[in-house]
Amino acid sequence: MNIALLGFGVVGRGVYDILANMDHIQVKKVICLEDIALPDAQVCHDIRDILDDPAIDTVVEAMGGLHPAYEFVRACMEAGKNVVTSNKALVCTFYDQLIPLASEKGILFRCTAAVGGGIGWLSELERSRRGQRLTQVGGIMNGTCNYILYAMTQLGLGYEEALKQAQSLGYAEAKPATDVEGIDTWHKVILSSNIAFGVSMDPASVPVAGISRICAGDVAAFTARGYTCKLISTAACRDGAYTAYVQPTLVPAGQPEAAVPSNYNLVSFQGEYSGRMSFFGQGAGRYPTAYNVVQDLLDLTAGKGFYSPYGPKVEAVNQNKMRYYVRGARDGWLQSHAAENWGDAVVTEPVAVDEMHRWLKDQDGAFIAAIAEDLL
Ligand code: HSE
Repeated sequence: MNIALLGFGVVGRGVYDILANMDHIQVKKVICLEDIALPDAQVCHDIRDILDDPAIDTVVEAMGGLHPAYEFVRACMEAGKNVVTSNKALVCTFYDQLIPLASEKGILFRCTAAVGGGIGWLSELERSRRGQRLTQVGGIMNGTCNYILYAMTQLGLGYEEALKQAQSLGYAEAKPATDVEGIDTWHKVILSSNIAFGVSMDPASVPVAGISRICAGDVAAFTARGYTCKLISTAACRDGAYTAYVQPTLVPAGQPEAAVPSNYNLVSFQGEYSGRMSFFGQGAGRYPTAYNVVQDLLDLTAGKGFYSPYGPKVEAVNQNKMRYYVRGARDGWLQSHAAENWGDAVVTEPVAVDEMHRWLKDQDGAFIAAIAEDLL
């Protein structure tokens, strides 16, 4: 297998290092912005150098972002090259374009590192869905947010200091707002749902709230009541109806999610025969992520392409009700749903998830966290 690497940042460099020890997968060319010297690969700056090279059969996209990643990946597929990517924003946003195109062109496309970093999550969804119906997926899918929440709760760090550490450790996206506003998790749960349920979920129907407004006082209130705050994704398919959302969630001590440290992820599915299956590992960082890119390359050599057939468009409708912790807002709607006070924050009666997220859109500065009665 002769590959071209698009991008030579945290992940691209990691893939290059791991492949240096594998004789049967050669990195022939690397596209990157800088003029670097690599002993065994040609560094180039123009995608046409890859497209016009018939010796390159497979492309690894590790640039991140949507553009020009989408145009480059699409052109490589059109040119008949297999693609492996770790870019969840790309695959989630252009799912309806890329997955049908892979079938049409007869090329192999995989993206296991896009969800869960080094965890074999999408590859296990692929295996699991062959023998049973999957009814729920979700969990902790962002290493940066978990690192921040863990550092605030267990180490007493402030929000900004914890974010800076996550950035310097290579966990955060180029724009960390993508992590802390929950967008990265949103991409990941939509992609997981598409594969688990065999659908193409409308991203606009999946509400998301992040952790950027959490403060030390919130964390102290949660700890005093036996809860740990985690950014949790949930998606379910029951009787042909779909739910999906991402939100800070108060997890009771004793639940496995409450104990997840540092940059680790804990993702789970619920299957009709298997019951709950959970997967724990480093969800971000150079070598865990690069490891899963290399796993995909090895799967390609065995002829394995995408994880599930491309499915119909569906929308999530989240009428299920949860109690919410809300700080930083007071209005008539909130007062009419208030059940108790935790300091200067309100805890609501059970409210439909979609209704809470619609209300939150108009609230500058409010922080919400759902109170989990049970996860998966
Ligand atoms: N920024 C992502 C995270 C990287 O923190 O989880 C891995 O997808």
